[in-house]
Amino acid sequence: MNVDFKKIQINEFNIPLVLVGVLEEAKGDVFISDINEEAGNVVELGDFKGKNGDLSLIYTKGTISPKRLLLIGLGKQEKLTVETVRKVVGNASRKARDLDVKKLGIYLDSFARDKLELTETTEALVQGIIMGSFQNIAYRTKNLEKYKKIEELIIFSPDTDEIVLKQGVESGKIIADAVNFCRELAWGPANYITPTKLANEALRLEKDLGIKTTVFEREQAKEIGLTSFLAVAQGTKEPPKFIIMEHGADKEGVETVALIGKAITFDSGGISIKPGQNMEKMKADMTGGAVVVAVMEAVAKLDLDLHIVGIVPATDNMPSGTAYHPGDIITSYSGITIEVINTDAEGRMILNDALTYAAKHYKPKAMFDFATLTGAMMIALGEHAIGYFSNHDFVVDKLEEASNTSGERVWRMPLWEVYDEQLKSDVADFKHTGGRPGGSITAARFLSQFTLDVPWAHLDIAGAMEQSSDKHYNPKGSKGPAVRVILDVLRNW
Ligand code: BES
Ligand code: MN
Ligand code: ZN
Repeated sequence: MNVDFKKIQINEFNIPLVLVGVLEEAKGDVFISDINEEAGNVVELGDFKGKNGDLSLIYTKGTISPKRLLLIGLGKQEKLTVETVRKVVGNASRKARDLDVKKLGIYLDSFARDKLELTETTEALVQGIIMGSFQNIAYRTKNLEKYKKIEELIIFSPDTDEIVLKQGVESGKIIADAVNFCRELAWGPANYITPTKLANEALRLEKDLGIKTTVFEREQAKEIGLTSFLAVAQGTKEPPKFIIMEHGADKEGVETVALIGKAITFDSGGISIKPGQNMEKMKADMTGGAVVVAVMEAVAKLDLDLHIVGIVPATDNMPSGTAYHPGDIITSYSGITIEVINTDAEGRMILNDALTYAAKHYKPKAMFDFATLTGAMMIALGEHAIGYFSNHDFVVDKLEEASNTSGERVWRMPLWEVYDEQLKSDVADFKHTGGRPGGSITAARFLSQFTLDVPWAHLDIAGAMEQSSDKHYNPKGSKGPAVRVILDVLRNW
């Protein structure tokens, strides 16, 4: 989608559809009737009340240049936030898309209403439309004409200068495109989205955006000693890849932040095989890796003044004659020995090596990992929030601040040492699972042993990875979780 900003009067704007925000207080206010009489009537008669989420399509019949107005309820002005704007516009985006208008205008002032900051509102409008109207039809061949697409989006205002809002338009597009890219990868099937495909995407970023990319094959990973990662990979014929991407490696005097993403391209459970029901959902067990690849693309485009290292250990988890067994003892890259209890707890096996690798080689100021790690996280928080665990208040502050600005919910979970009791092994330094009680916490405690005391947060996105039905700017399917919140962490750094 092409996105731009224009300084223009609404009644001069020749365009098939314009979105207009309407407050609950609109009745008796001339704002809407000044735009257009037909729209004003609907509001004055009380047929459109401006309640949050209300939509009404108005045909202007030649009274002004735009052919249609889509009125969007914003709710009460005192409650109006940038996140409200992102949500209501996200909902409206599918309606606009399905009207089959190729070109869409949004009247900025009607959403900001002298209350919201204009650049932030512009960014939210762009995000709402691009994220909300997303649909992945890459694997369909039939009835393609059914799937409409908005080709051009123009945010406009009669009296705001373009330069001011260019930034909102650009960052909004970069961030929303990253979310959609993450969704495409995450929701893509395991026979297409392989470790090789992820590595190729990283190499594309190297070619297009100058991101320094290194890919370790099975042999190299073995020489380096990424044994815990390779334990999971030993059951599959699909070549595993340990992918490292760097933005800003040559920038001077900037801080280093590491991002690590779990990329199990298919999680069958391995020898501790999963039940068949819902197993197809495990094509998305590489969502954490997709987050990191998509975020790397965005940080390069935003040209953030940071050294950002993205590490994506990628492999299938399959049962076979060569698969790792329950009871195996693995000496990880850190030197810590791990007793394998359940081969389905493979995420922490690949992440521990990646965490140690990042901490040791890059000594980052902070590390964040993203992982569809535990079913228990879905049980704890459901689909509406990401649960995170952290060993350092500095990282917690960054995440909470970014959660507020991005509108993406995160919730801190405990990381108390007492849970280590469940990880005591009779034969090795640690067992890698601690049973069902507090399953997300014991998983996080296990990972915390491999951080070399770098300030770190582990984001368990197993609950938040998927949206069960269309909601605001999240259409049914992969949410592209954590992309916005981590990008705000990095932008606000
Ligand atoms: N990828 C799964 C976790 C998961 C389950 C994500 C459902 C999204 C939806 C992970 O590898 C896993 O299998 N975890 C086990 C851990 C257990 C064996 C200790 C789980 O949660 O049951
Ligand atoms: Mn698993
Ligand atoms: Zn998994």
